[in-house]
Order: sequence, then structure tokens, then C-alpha cells
Amino acid sequence: MAEASCSALLLFGATGDLSRRMLLPSLYALHEDGLIEPGLRIVGTARSEHDDADFRDFAKAALDEFLPADRKDETKLASFLEWLEYQTLDASDIAGFAGLAEKLGDTSCGLSIFLSTAPALFEPTIAGLKSAGLAHEGVRIGLEKPLGNDLASSNRINDAVAAAFAENQIFRIDHYLGKETVQNLMALRFANMMFEPLWNSAGIDHIQITVSETVGLEGRKGFYDDTGALRDMVQNHMLQLLALTAMEPPVDFDATAIRDEKVKVLRALRPVKADEMVRGQYRAGAVKGESVKGYEDDLGQPSETETFVAIKAHVENWRWQGVPFYLRTGKRLGERRSEIVVEFKQVPHNIFGSRLRANRLVIRLQPEEYVRLQVMAKEPGLDRGGIVLREVNLDLSLTTAFAKARRRIAYERLLLDLIEGQQTLFVRRDEVEAQWRWVDGIRKVWATESMEVKGYSAGSWGPNAAIALTERDGRSWND
Ligand code: BG6
Repeated sequence: MAEASCSALLLFGATGDLSRRMLLPSLYALHEDGLIEPGLRIVGTARSEHDDADFRDFAKAALDEFLPADRKDETKLASFLEWLEYQTLDASDIAGFAGLAEKLGDTSCGLSIFLSTAPALFEPTIAGLKSAGLAHEGVRIGLEKPLGNDLASSNRINDAVAAAFAENQIFRIDHYLGKETVQNLMALRFANMMFEPLWNSAGIDHIQITVSETVGLEGRKGFYDDTGALRDMVQNHMLQLLALTAMEPPVDFDATAIRDEKVKVLRALRPVKADEMVRGQYRAGAVKGESVKGYEDDLGQPSETETFVAIKAHVENWRWQGVPFYLRTGKRLGERRSEIVVEFKQVPHNIFGSRLRANRLVIRLQPEEYVRLQVMAKEPGLDRGGIVLREVNLDLSLTTAFAKARRRIAYERLLLDLIEGQQTLFVRRDEVEAQWRWVDGIRKVWATESMEVKGYSAGSWGPNAAIALTERDGRSWND
């Protein structure tokens, strides 16, 4: 164990929900597969008073609850738990960091920090780390959202972090980038010849990005009501999906090249006008056959916060001139689904009597993982009454094609990349700034136009106005 190495992983918020559901199961999975160097120490810290043994009990309960049955190997579980240590720390009190540094001991071989904490604790935590000598060159810091709630507050946090760490030590997490199919988007675009020549305004009519959820508030009342769907989902996950879909081919697969291309897209986003967006809030309804309450009942008070947003976005550059990107995300919709749909243009001349549907490329990120190309084909027959055409799917099921490969949750990938110092799947400061600038512009329009939230029944696809957003352009969502 510890004596074999002087490198460590330090988890802030170690007794929180993210740690229980995602971080501890991910670390265990990496350990089980022998992917983390055996000598790495894992030290949890949080405000609550515990010792190493309590934290191991906490981790055991979390793993019992959240690890899939086929992952549980009693011997490896026991050795993983042995590995965990704990240090109580009130991050708002700078004095406590000396004790933390003492617990960590020699960190000269490398220290990776995962910081998921209340926004108010970011600055004191960074200052504490610095004062205790835990911000040296061998330290990397992973930052979990929310990193501010507008450009100004995000800049304050980023400035505080930059006062202690260089940008190449800072790993801003957007867990969507850890998802396998999101990375596959780059493989699809840049490892195949057939898509890229059409991947522009000459070949593509429009693009849709949907991230729909069936869950509601999930016990996050205060946070969610202060945040809303735009800042919770669009500012980060959906804009990253948009950037990966729209970016130019990077010169290679390294962190700088890829992030350079993404940030150009984010900077090219056109400010959105009032009639290009819809805000919604769920009312009572039924999701997956179960009746559910409306948002205000879930919250226990009246609210103007949006739980749904649909936006017609534009990327103002040569490649995407005139191609709308329709984005929509919401809670308590009829189905959990994340997908990118690329609708190509119609053929220039139709030689068949029947109507042709434009080709659609559907990239389903979750819950299923597939890439599906919808193409027109002839129905078998002698065609006495003329050729009959029908749309059929060319299907690539990633789940089937890679049935033997283990499916990993996003945090396994991101934690391993943090520990090993790979920055490609983390968000650079200039990207975050461009994301906030665009989102702040949208919120300004909401405020000046007094844009109200429109109700939608839980279990539907959002307010009717969201359907009208595409229909009035002669297009339709891929429902
Ligand atoms: C989080 C949001 O970032 O992403 C949540 O705060 C949301 O509100 C979650 O539910 C969705 O993530 P996933 O991986 O389940 O699609």
C-alpha cells in the first residue's frame, strides 16, 4: 500500500452523493481492473467527523448499493477498502489544511485532487491548499460543476484557481465528455471518409441535439431552482456536444488541438433572439405510467425556473452558415434520451414519383448506444404501379458490435485521466468563458423580454411552443 509510492488522490466532498454514486464505484472499478497504480493512496475529506474505519464503512455501503452485481469481487473489495483513508476538514477554516498536508505526507510523486464542493467553498479551499503547500507543480486539480452561475462568478472561481495552479494543472469536469459515445462522435467524424465531405451547410439541412430526462427535482430543490435547465444542462453538456459536432478537424488528437477547435465553435455562437427559444416548466402528468406532481408541487413553492429549454442556435462561420442547431433539454419528459440528429439536405432532383425523406444520421448517446443512418430504399415488388420507396435504417449498434468491451461510467474515464494527467476530455478556461458569455446573453433576453415559462405535462416532449420552433421552419423533432 502506501509505502510503495508517494502519489495520492484526494477527494473533497468524499461523503457526498457524487462520491457515493459515482466516484467510489468508479475508483473501485479501476482498481478491480488493475488500472490504477497499486501504491496510489486515496484520501477522502469532508467536514463531518470520521476516521479511516468510518469512511471505509461508508464506502462499503456505497459500493454495495451502486456496484453492479457482476463487478463485486469480495477479495478485491476488501483490498480496495483497505486503501481508503479519511481526514476531517472544514474547508472554510484555513488552519485545518496543515492537518490535511500532514496526513498526506510526501506528495512529491504527484497529487491529484477531485474537488466537488459547494460554490462558496471553492475559494477558501484553493487558498487552504496553497497555504499548506498542496498546490505545487506535481498537483493536478479536478473541478466539478457548478463552477459559478454566470460569466462573472465563473471568472472569480477561475481566477482563484489560477492564482494557485497553472492551466495545465486544472481539469474542469464535464461528465458528458467521459461518455463513450460522446468520444465516439470524434471517431465517427474523423476516422471515416464518408461523413466529412457532407458535414457542412452544403450537405446538412439542420442538426438537433436532445437531452431528455424522466427524472424531476431529485431532492436538489435549492440548487436546481436557483439554476434551471439552461445553466444546468445547456451551458455545459449540450454546448460541449454542439462543439464536438460542429468543430473543424483538429490537426491531431491532443488536448490543445481539440480544445482549440471546440473553442472556435463556442465563440462563433450567434446571440439568440427571443423568438428562437422556449422556456418550459413541468406540470403534473404521468411518466412511464406513473403519475407525478408538477414542479411547483415538488418544490413546495411557486417558481419561475425553467425545467425545459429549447433553443434554435446558429454557429456563425463558413461551414455552418444558415444551418440551425435545435437544442432541447428537460426534466420529466416522456423518455430518457440523449442524441444528436444530423438531417442532410434533400437530393437535388427527385426522379421518383413518391416523396423522399432526407437522410438522417442519428447518434444515440444514451440509454442505448448506436449510430443509425436513415436511407431511402425500394420496397421489393414488381412495381406495376410505380416504384415504392421506404425509409430504412442502416444500424450500427455499438452495444452489439462491442459486446465484449466493458461499459464504463464516465467518471472511470475522467478519474483515470485526471490521475494520469490527460487533459483532452476536460474543459479549458476559454471554452467555459465562451459558454457563459452565450448563456448570459440568453438570460439577458429572458429578463428584458420578461419571457415566461410555459407549462408542459410531465411525460410529454415539452411545451407546444417547442414543437412549433421546428415546425414553423418546416422541420420536425426526431420524437
Ligand atoms: C448533471 C445535471 O450535470 O447531469 C443533472 O446537474 C442531470 O440535472 C445530469 O440530471 C444528467 O446526466 P446523465 O449522465 O444522467 O445524462
